[in-house]
Amino acid sequence: MSESFTIAVDGPAAAGKGTISKAVAAHYGFGHLDTGLLYRAVGAKMMEGTAAAEAARNLTPEDLARDDLRGPEVAQAASKVAVIAEVRAALVDFQRAFARRAGGAVLDGRDIGTVICPYAQVKLFVTASAEVRARRRFLELTSAGKVVSLEDVLADVKARDERDMNRAEAPLKPAADAVLIDTSELSIDEALAAALTVIEARRQAVPQS
Ligand code: C5P
Repeated sequence: MSESFTIAVDGPAAAGKGTISKAVAAHYGFGHLDTGLLYRAVGAKMMEGTAAAEAARNLTPEDLARDDLRGPEVAQAASKVAVIAEVRAALVDFQRAFARRAGGAVLDGRDIGTVICPYAQVKLFVTASAEVRARRRFLELTSAGKVVSLEDVLADVKARDERDMNRAEAPLKPAADAVLIDTSELSIDEALAAALTVIEARRQAVPQS
């Protein structure tokens, strides 16, 4: 397949969109872009004193490869810089170019189906209850050796949801034509199977070369 085929995967923190996106990309041999990492890298730079818009305009591959982007403080900083219009604007071209790459692309984030790739052939909105998402993130963080409480992780998840859903610029919401996958009661395999069913149906419907 040489034409681009774009799969947009949006949803709140820890709903499973990263896991699904990676597995879908591996399944089809598509590229995968975790767009949250862009905002995390900008958030990390802001924590170090760089103005957010300037950081967004000058992001380097090294900034994205930092190994300290996964923590809860950086996540909160990411959602703070993500409300800034100049930050979002600076990151658009890179994401759109990735989406158009030959051979197919999976992008996961908050605004991929609504703003970055409204033309995407497949749009998934992956969600789960805040409690389930907090428990997953808690297990992830504690198994990586971080000392956190479930209560604090839940508060963090809710604060981020609130900021992401209520901002003026590109708020988190399903695109009108997105297919919803609620992973609250699903195993990873079941969630992946649900995603692949949707994607396969679209691949049958959309002519490919
Ligand atoms: O996906 P992840 O949890 O790494 O994203 C971190 C933060 O970056 C989100 O809470 C959100 O505020 C922001 N983000 C965004 N748009 C995207 C991806 C992430 O605003 N496409």
